[in-house]
Amino acid sequence: MTENADGRRWWHGAVIYQLYVRSWRDSNDDGYGDLRGIIERLDYLSWLGVDAVWLSPTMPSPDDDWGYDVSDYTGVHPDLGTLADLDELIDQADQRGMRVLLDLVPNHTSSAHPWFTDAASGREAEHRRYYVWADPRPDGGRPNNWLDFTGRPAWQWHDSGQYYLHNFLPGQPDLNWWEPAVHQEFARILEFWFERGVAGFRIDVANGLYKDAELRDNPPLDSDNPLEGVFGMRFVYNSNRPETHGVYRDWRKIAESYSPERLLLGETWVPDAQRLAAYYGDNDELQLGFNFPFALADLDPARLAAIVEQTLAALPSGAGPVWMGSNHDLGRFPSRWCGGDERKVRLALLVLATLPGTTVLYYGDEIGMTDVDVPPALRRDHATLDLEGGADRDRARTPMPWDGSPGSGFTGPGVTPWLPMADPPVSTVADQRDKPESTLSLCRRLLALRRTELGRGLADFENLAVTEGVWTYRTGPLVVAANFTDRPADMPAEAGEVLLTTSAEQAPPSPGVLGPWEGVVTRRSGSAAGHDQL
Ligand code: GLC
Repeated sequence: MTENADGRRWWHGAVIYQLYVRSWRDSNDDGYGDLRGIIERLDYLSWLGVDAVWLSPTMPSPDDDWGYDVSDYTGVHPDLGTLADLDELIDQADQRGMRVLLDLVPNHTSSAHPWFTDAASGREAEHRRYYVWADPRPDGGRPNNWLDFTGRPAWQWHDSGQYYLHNFLPGQPDLNWWEPAVHQEFARILEFWFERGVAGFRIDVANGLYKDAELRDNPPLDSDNPLEGVFGMRFVYNSNRPETHGVYRDWRKIAESYSPERLLLGETWVPDAQRLAAYYGDNDELQLGFNFPFALADLDPARLAAIVEQTLAALPSGAGPVWMGSNHDLGRFPSRWCGGDERKVRLALLVLATLPGTTVLYYGDEIGMTDVDVPPALRRDHATLDLEGGADRDRARTPMPWDGSPGSGFTGPGVTPWLPMADPPVSTVADQRDKPESTLSLCRRLLALRRTELGRGLADFENLAVTEGVWTYRTGPLVVAANFTDRPADMPAEAGEVLLTTSAEQAPPSPGVLGPWEGVVTRRSGSAAGHDQL
């Protein structure tokens, strides 16, 4: 937990565990995971070796979008617990050397938020300017061509004689960041939580916030990259506006006024390293921004190696990258990247654990949990309910399988969980915990090795080669060799003493050979265990 003037920050080298609260552990048998459930299982997280947890939205909400529609920014959702529970969670986590990040949603509120209720009460209402209202076009049509994230028009007609903007669901009206009072409200919200000991925020739709002042039409999309735009429209005027950077410069000052410095980790939905780096500013905006090009790349070593290199080259000096493969929107990497193949899951975990910077694991990644095919009748994600096939987001939000008991250790016997458990049952935490050859044990060894070998700080990184599907790179004192093919491969010459292999046999690989989809962490010849790389 180093915090000093040399540029190191607690999140450099850290592993953050994204915990979808409703699906992790239900302490009161109502079918929903909750904060007390997390408190009960903190020892598991500490055993696993994570440094921090990021909790999916915990604030009161009508749950049109499961908490991403906030109706009170300084409370706790009654389904999940109380403010006192959250205080206790922060305290108990702290006693185990772990920090707690919350999810903050500044792009929009719920339509049930008192600001919106007031804003909707009339055109002269005090909070009217908190939201993006616009008159119809002279022909009565919508103000522009913007679409929401379901592909429907992003403008909702309102009885007060104007449209309001919702980049997400109609129950999620966009805030108007041109209004200074909105800045003041959020500064107070940040301080409220920082003072309670919250270590930072994952910032939802971090590249949203400001909208074009003239509400110009978005231009057509000439790319199939979902990070550039969707539904035939490029994200130009409804997000990624230059004014948003000023918000993060202000918030960074607030974050830095606390000790330890609080973390701003943005959901930066942008297609390349340059545009990602822009949200780090001159190392005076977000300290971390999620790397979606990395998460959305296939398990293709040349592509991953290039993204890592470009990202590191683009970030401002002193800033670090953040890597993840799964989240509650994209689905789980053991399915998306690995098609459920355990060898690939183990290899991907090795890569995530040995890249420099910060790594975020999604609950279940550590046991290789795959997406669950949730039957349409049991789906709960309103935004994707009417989408066909595998596009739903529920598939990656199902309860954590702790053990083989009725309720799977998630909830009590006979209780119906809010989303179904995997059927047939998958390998549980209990199945894997004491087996040295399990994915869970491998993940735990990887995190321990990361801690002891890379220590705190931003280890320097060098791509050594991607040759015939084998990616070799150096992070600090470690050389990683990863075989992304179905064939055995020669051990790269740069590899040194093998410290860990992903092979389930755990046997040292045959001298000089990497098995199919096997990865090894080795210590570079001539280097001692290295801490405090910068
Ligand atoms: C982010 C969240 C997603 C949510 C959306 C609107 O993308 O990750 O789950 O639906 O923002 O808040």
